This record gives sequence, C-alpha cells and structure tokens, in this order.
Amino acid sequence: MKKIATYKELTDAHARLQPLMTLRQEAARSDAEQRELLVCGGTGCQSSRSLELLENLNKEIRAAGLEKKAVAHVTGCFGFCEKGPIVKVFPDDVFYVEVTPDDAKDIVQGHLVSNTLVERLLYENPAEPGHRLEKQSDMGFSDYVTMQKMKLASRLLKEGSLKVYQISEMLGFDSSYYFSTVYKKFTGMSPSETIALTGGHDEE
Ligand code: FES
Repeated sequence: MKKIATYKELTDAHARLQPLMTLRQEAARSDAEQRELLVCGGTGCQSSRSLELLENLNKEIRAAGLEKKAVAHVTGCFGFCEKGPIVKVFPDDVFYVEVTPDDAKDIVQGHLVSNTLVERLLYENPAEPGHRLEKQSDMGFSDYVTMQKMKLASRLLKEGSLKVYQISEMLGFDSSYYFSTVYKKFTGMSPSETIALTGGHDEE
C-alpha cells in the first residue's frame, strides 16, 4: 500500500474514501438501532410459557414490519426466576417481569413501535409499592436483600418448622402483616397459601 506523503494526497484519499465511511457509519447506526428481546428459556420461565411468549413476540415483530429492526431470542436463566417469565430488551437494557404470551403485542407496540415502556411489566420493588425499576441494574442493595429474604421465607414456610410470625421476626419485619404484604407482592401468594401448597396450615 502506497504511503500518503503530502497533505493533498491525504485530502484526496479522504474524498475517495468518504462514501465508504458514510456506508460504514450508517451500518453501525442501524446496528445500534437493532433491538434484541431476550426471553428467558430457563426451566422456571419455560414452565410459565416463555417459549410461547417468544413465538408471539416474533409474530408481533413481523406483524409490525420490524423484522429488520428487532428479533426475539431465547436465552438462559437471569437468576430472577420468581418473577419470570423475564424479557430483557437490548440495547435499552430494560427488564420486564412476569410477562405472559398475551403481553407480546404490548411490548412490540409499546416498547418497539412507540418507544414507550410497558410500565405494568416493570419490576416493582415490594418494599416500595408503586416504585418500578426499569433496569435489572437499578435494583439496589436493599432490593437485593428483600429478594433474598423472600426466597428464604418461601423456603422456611415450605419446610413448616416455623410459624409466620417467627419467620417475620427472624427476617427483621416490624409486623407479620407487613411481612405478609411484602411476601405476597414478591411471590404472588400469601404465606398461608405457600404453606398450604405443602399440605400444612398456618397456626399464627
Ligand atoms: S428460569 Fe427464568 S429467570 Fe430463572
């Protein structure tokens, strides 16, 4: 390759290569606009019909004529199985929880077509009702701690050796009522319903 020796050769080369650079920039921009919807295909989410959700998302993408701009893929477990099925939108990094196959249209029409978040599918921090988080990374330390506490509570309730008020005290809640409210928000069922699943009953 011939070395550029003068300023004129440099400006000539720039003019010659400019169309190529424009093409490359446009390709990069359209790549950035390409959205990927990652649908969890982990066991928990699959049992809540995440593969049907995946199919519906791709159907809705096609119906909206967005095949070149978006695609839904299956991916592995996000570690947030209690709130599955999970859909994560890239590059926006938005995280939708408890998504059903019927929500596919709202995600495509809302998020992809209108660039509007589907608020009702964003994660709601059980300790702060009404506070919804857009990104998994927005989940702060206290959200993480609450999530871990609820996982532990669920396990203890199923084991059946402690009463609800004992678990509530052990996990640092001021009252069993508040504990039960947070627990229900997080798991979708009350502590007594969890106990009933294992054949036990609550004797608070
Ligand atoms: S199985 Fe879907 S988040 Fe774990």
